[in-house]
Amino acid sequence: IPVDAFDLVIFGGTGDLARRKILPSLFRRMRAGQMPATARVIACARGKMTRKAFQQMIREALLEFIPRPEDRPDDLLAQFLEVLDFVALDATGEAGWAELGEKLRPDTVRAFYLSVGPALFGPIAHRLHETGLATADSRIVVEKPLGHDLPSARELNRQLSESFSEHQIYRIDHYLGKETVQNLMALRFANALFEPLWNAQHIDHVQITVSEKIGVEGRGGYYDKSGAMRDMVQNHIMQLLCLTAMEPPARFEPDAVRDEKLKVIRALDPVPIGDTVRGQYRANGTTGSYLDHVENPDSRTESYVALKVQISNWRWAGTPFYLRTGKKLRARLSEIAVMFKEVPHSIFPEVSQRRGNALIIRLQPDEGITLRMTIKDPGPGGMRLREVPLDMTFADALGDMAEEVPDAYERLVMDVIRGNQTLFMRGDEVEAAWAWTDAIIASWEDDRARPEPYDTGGSGPEEALALMHRDGRRWREIEG
Ligand code: BG6
Repeated sequence: IPVDAFDLVIFGGTGDLARRKILPSLFRRMRAGQMPATARVIACARGKMTRKAFQQMIREALLEFIPRPEDRPDDLLAQFLEVLDFVALDATGEAGWAELGEKLRPDTVRAFYLSVGPALFGPIAHRLHETGLATADSRIVVEKPLGHDLPSARELNRQLSESFSEHQIYRIDHYLGKETVQNLMALRFANALFEPLWNAQHIDHVQITVSEKIGVEGRGGYYDKSGAMRDMVQNHIMQLLCLTAMEPPARFEPDAVRDEKLKVIRALDPVPIGDTVRGQYRANGTTGSYLDHVENPDSRTESYVALKVQISNWRWAGTPFYLRTGKKLRARLSEIAVMFKEVPHSIFPEVSQRRGNALIIRLQPDEGITLRMTIKDPGPGGMRLREVPLDMTFADALGDMAEEVPDAYERLVMDVIRGNQTLFMRGDEVEAAWAWTDAIIASWEDDRARPEPYDTGGSGPEEALALMHRDGRRWREIEG
């Protein structure tokens, strides 16, 4: 659905996220006919810069991040650059605020995207309110880190709520903008097939994997204070867990969905330390270790974590969710694997058919859904069984429509303009996720053990395998 004219103000508008993600995403939306030429995007940053110079900067960013010339025709590029404006502004001082005010149009949707460090979220929200630039309908967009623990998340929510109501606050978790993550809801709630089986009676366990090939190079300062738990589990993996485990909301509406997610988080059991594994990647020949990359030989921060998580409610009691994420692993792979129970009684002598069905929802790479089934081996050689995937790669199933999977930010930024909060985190959700995460981190701090080393390019520490083995289960392979 195309949107009407809007004014989008990006604080930190010359920064990496703006150049790499936000502006290229908007460009693609314009190409798709969703963003009108009457829209205004006003970048704010501290340094002086002319509008022309900013347009030139973004032109270069678009050439870099939308590499194929046919994806960025010249006329459209020119039209997009016309939408851009720039204001030199001091977020905590006086400079620039009046000029920004003059540029904003009355009776036009206003969104303020805070693409700046979290320390500035509160002060900018406050200034927007104080200067009257934020109207009752204006939206404010913030993105992780949304706090470092429960107290800091609460404080951040408090600061934002002084100037904005909850219905104006858009907390981005970019995983919610990923196509397959939204597809998880379609799969569950638009098909009658799965939901009757979606419970502890039929599902043995669930595995959620977010495996990355990249390390922490360049972001060591931030990462070493966070670790995989804060960087990935508290937010992205928690969202995947919630969407997999939640009850069907009565309506596909922001609070109906978010209420159900919150109930999942509140039903999470505390995780005993014995059900957690932390790892740090080792050096391998040419590349350094985690400790090298963060330049902190004593660091106990985890670049890998695996957890066995129990959800104490009627649907899931007794069906564990195993979560794992790490850097410098064998491949970039994100998936949710729903592992069904074995048949209750086997009439075939072979062992192989004793493995249950599995439904794999692949987020990246090549988004798709696979159902693992057992069938008979072809031929007259008797009743030999084998497992085959019933495979749906979106690119194949949808042909042209899937040619270019939209970036998460395309969906999210347009939802901000449309005023649809379904794919954004509510304050209470973020706090509940921190409360659960904090307890695990606190148990690690008390324990004072070092994370287990694991091989760069491998599939994580041995201890993570053991976490599954002792329950008679195995992780799925991490394959690139
Ligand atoms: C970010 C984390 O939020 O998500 C990064 O800070 C991580 O450490 C990234 O690499 C992963 O996102 P994606 O979309 O590449 O899976």
